[in-house]
Amino acid sequence: MVERTLTVRVERIRRETPEILSFELAHPWGRELPGFEPGAHIDVRMPGGFSRQYSLARAPDAQDRGRYLIGVKREAASRGGSASMHERVREGDLLPISAPRNTFPVHADGRRHLLLAGGIGMTPLLAMAQALARRGADFELCVFARSREHLAFADALAAPDLAPQVRVHFDDSAAPEKIDLAAMLQTHEAGMHLYMCGPAGFMSAVRKAAAHWPEDAVHAEYFAAPGESSVPAGRAFSLRLTQRGFTVPVAADQSAVDALHDFGIDVPVSCEQGLCGTCVVPAQGEGAEHRDFCLTGAERRHKVALCCSRARERELVIHL
Ligand code: FES
Repeated sequence: MVERTLTVRVERIRRETPEILSFELAHPWGRELPGFEPGAHIDVRMPGGFSRQYSLARAPDAQDRGRYLIGVKREAASRGGSASMHERVREGDLLPISAPRNTFPVHADGRRHLLLAGGIGMTPLLAMAQALARRGADFELCVFARSREHLAFADALAAPDLAPQVRVHFDDSAAPEKIDLAAMLQTHEAGMHLYMCGPAGFMSAVRKAAAHWPEDAVHAEYFAAPGESSVPAGRAFSLRLTQRGFTVPVAADQSAVDALHDFGIDVPVSCEQGLCGTCVVPAQGEGAEHRDFCLTGAERRHKVALCCSRARERELVIHL
């Protein structure tokens, strides 16, 4: 289900790398699209009935006239979404999208920001870096790519206000140019925040190198649920809805969101893997067994993602 649906026109398609196309999306009548914070993503509905989430890859500014930029990697094992975007979408087409949502924000109170991007995972971090550069913040954007040919958004990375803060690691380059993750993340100082986005192997390598960082200083956006699928099976439990004043039973093989839908209570969902944050609601978080990949440690104290998380014991209290 897509929350609020907008229609956009595909203004421009550009090949970034052999596997990545960028799409510039505009309002069909030239109006400004809704504003967003860097790190936000949209759901895109594409030909074939697929819906996928894509991060917005450019921080809003006066020059973009309220347009969105996304990058789409053609996955070798595409389940249809990236293939549809690459093969069936053309300039001038109209696409339904959701309004932007942000579950991966920049922590504005941070003293220093380290942005680590693997491949197409650069998209949200590029927008964050542009916004941080405009603010004059202390940050570094490190991009890991297979080779120069596989580096997307090279023009944006070379922009004069960004380039001094960008380091690019090519897997095929000489050793001295490579980034040593362990050395880079060896020390965490107060006020430092780490943001990461990339494929599963990259994410686990960064997590391992930052294992000693405080939980609330590490922020991740995943493409897909890492490891085992997050099919929300487990024990049966009850959802107590504080605002409605009643309780909804959740069966062992059912998600909390499905149980609520069966009761006619509409909670929006999108990825259904704990990645996008669409189904997050306020909760007494200590009662939850969190299975999402989008909430920070601090957020988990008072929020829960209902598509995948369950009650730790017999009851989960949510503020709906
Ligand atoms: S629907 Fe995406 S996190 Fe639940």
